[in-house]
Amino acid sequence: MTSFITGLPKVELHLHIEGSLEPELMFALAERNKIAIPFNSPDEVRAAYQFHNLQSFLDIYYQGANVLIHEQDFYDLTWAYLLRCKADHVVHTEIFFDPQTHTERGIAFETVVNGIHRALEQGRKMLGISSQLIMCFLRHLDQESAFVTLNQALAHKDKIVGVGLDSSELGNPPEKFKAVFQQALAEGFLTVAHAGEEGPSENITHTLDLLGATRVDHGVRCVDDAVLVERLVQAQVPLTVCPLSNLKLKVFEDMKDHNIVDLLRKGLCVTINSDDPAYFGGYMTANFQAVADAHPMTQEEIAQFTLNAIQASFISVEEKQRLTRMTRDYLDNYQA
Ligand code: HPA
Ligand code: ZN
Repeated sequence: MTSFITGLPKVELHLHIEGSLEPELMFALAERNKIAIPFNSPDEVRAAYQFHNLQSFLDIYYQGANVLIHEQDFYDLTWAYLLRCKADHVVHTEIFFDPQTHTERGIAFETVVNGIHRALEQGRKMLGISSQLIMCFLRHLDQESAFVTLNQALAHKDKIVGVGLDSSELGNPPEKFKAVFQQALAEGFLTVAHAGEEGPSENITHTLDLLGATRVDHGVRCVDDAVLVERLVQAQVPLTVCPLSNLKLKVFEDMKDHNIVDLLRKGLCVTINSDDPAYFGGYMTANFQAVADAHPMTQEEIAQFTLNAIQASFISVEEKQRLTRMTRDYLDNYQA
């Protein structure tokens, strides 16, 4: 099953580019930019990655992002992630970035978006990986700050397909951002949001009803509400699930307790994603493998995660058909 999983075409829909900052690059950028970091080696950084919940991760994650200063830094970060994508047979990726993490430190919005975008364009040309960019609002900040960020994004509509919502879910429910999401929709952005990761299932319902979200990031706590589960099945609302992230942040104690395969078999449009792979111990292939190790599945079931992600992605119908054919051909050839 390992070689089947490695070679399977994959589509990633939940990846924070700041969460792909490997300790080695963190060190290199700290040196290049003369930024002090409280670690002596990449191994020391890795040893500090012991999390007990979402907040304990976020504190370290925002600190790590401090080494990102220049456009070239954002380019290098994104390019390193795309090389990982290539190795993992990721053919399309939709990545999040958190402008406020950088603008709050005095880095210009343009610096961030242009560096990421330049690498994505290079990835399209040199690696054959297509991509979309989604800007997330930090939900621990107020809605006013989100509005400022939305206004900064208007000059970059050609590079940003949608807006999302991340950071501390507890205490920062979707209703706090209803107005700015309505404005984003009016400006033509698609919307997504993290919901039902640590927070209650009603955050998922409100994300759909108040934020106009076309997919839900994480969403694993939907199982607490049977009516919601039925709605997610009927409407085929995609959930971008992140198995290794959920394990590291103690959303589930053990991969055997994870509900993703149950949700797949119930007919939900669930997908597998890496979230913050430099912090959670694995990119796409590792996430697929971890799920398959804990939950025996057929090859068709494993491939279904890719087929679901293709349907859930923000690409054209023609492109969805092309990637679906590619995935079905891979499955057929592998089984022949
Ligand atoms: N949840 C919320 N905010 C985040 C995450 C996450 O998993 N990763 C990066 N920011
Ligand atoms: Zn996330």
